[in-house]
Amino acid sequence: AATTRYEAENAPATCAGAIESNHSGFSGAGFCNSDNAVGASAQFTVNAPSAGSVTLGVRYAHGGTDTRSADIVVNGATVQAASSFAATGAWTTWSTKTVTIPVNAGSNTVRLVASTAAGLANIDFVEI
Ligand code: GCU
Ligand code: CA
Repeated sequence: AATTRYEAENAPATCAGAIESNHSGFSGAGFCNSDNAVGASAQFTVNAPSAGSVTLGVRYAHGGTDTRSADIVVNGATVQAASSFAATGAWTTWSTKTVTIPVNAGSNTVRLVASTAAGLANIDFVEI
């Protein structure tokens, strides 16, 4: 089925940090560069036609050498704790991580919450 993309820079998405555009290759107008802190988050509101399990894609770049990880929280429930976002080699190299998440029919919140002091990888968009 076709996916719908939700850009980090488009409200109602929120970014605990700054929307930036200094590393090329992102979609839309920019990406979320989260604060370098445990608990730094990017949140999205995604719509599902029906309840069930769907594949969530998270497009990100991680040009550092540290291991970054984030809790994936859907409608307030942690679906995956400390899910890893592997280094992509450069801040301009973007990769899509996929994870299966449960959704309700209609509006759902998807929150990525950094589990290490490095914060999140740079987050471009999510899609379902
Ligand atoms: C660099 C990079 C940022 C990134 C940051 C980080 O400052 O330019 O885009 O978010 O590193 O390590 O989180
Ligand atoms: Ca950052």
